[in-house]
Amino acid sequence: MPVSELISAQRIQRRVGELGSLITADYAGVGKLVVIGVLKGAFMFTADLVRSLQVPCSIEFIRATSYGNEMQSSGEVTITHQPDIAGQEVLLVEDLIDTGLTVNTIVEEFWKLGPASLKVCALLDKPSARKYPAEADYFGFEIPDTFVVGYGIDHAERFRELPFIGTVD
Ligand code: PRP
Repeated sequence: MPVSELISAQRIQRRVGELGSLITADYAGVGKLVVIGVLKGAFMFTADLVRSLQVPCSIEFIRATSYGNEMQSSGEVTITHQPDIAGQEVLLVEDLIDTGLTVNTIVEEFWKLGPASLKVCALLDKPSARKYPAEADYFGFEIPDTFVVGYGIDHAERFRELPFIGTVD
């Protein structure tokens, strides 16, 4: 299955640096930021993003799945592990906001846990695919409504290891 490059590794790294600077400025003076990556897709982005932040962080991961091995969302989100975020400044890190179901569900659940603040940083935003209200406070790239892989994102568990974002032909 051939993959065509859509966003190069260099462009991703440059943008991650810019996002890191923006987020660092917004959280200047904050004692600690709780960064929560959404597995599996955001593992690579989270690892790169925290390295470009100059804010003291603790790092958590949650698992949320809606796609299974399909190219279409199943319409249900399963979240495992709810970290203790009461009173904390929280940054949720996602690889992609597509229909918005995953972010919408996590944000709704997380507000119930009483964080001091909760923001979303997504590497990719696909606004034309949105079906549920969901917005990123920070995002890397807006992309068209095509199926993307790489930099953590899979198709049937393949291509997560690619250092760039591509489309499957
Ligand atoms: C993908 C992606 C986002 C979500 C976006 O996760 O990583 O979490 O779907 O889609 P949505 O906006 O339509 O909800 P997936 O369920 O494929 O799990 P994975 O990250 O483990 O591959």
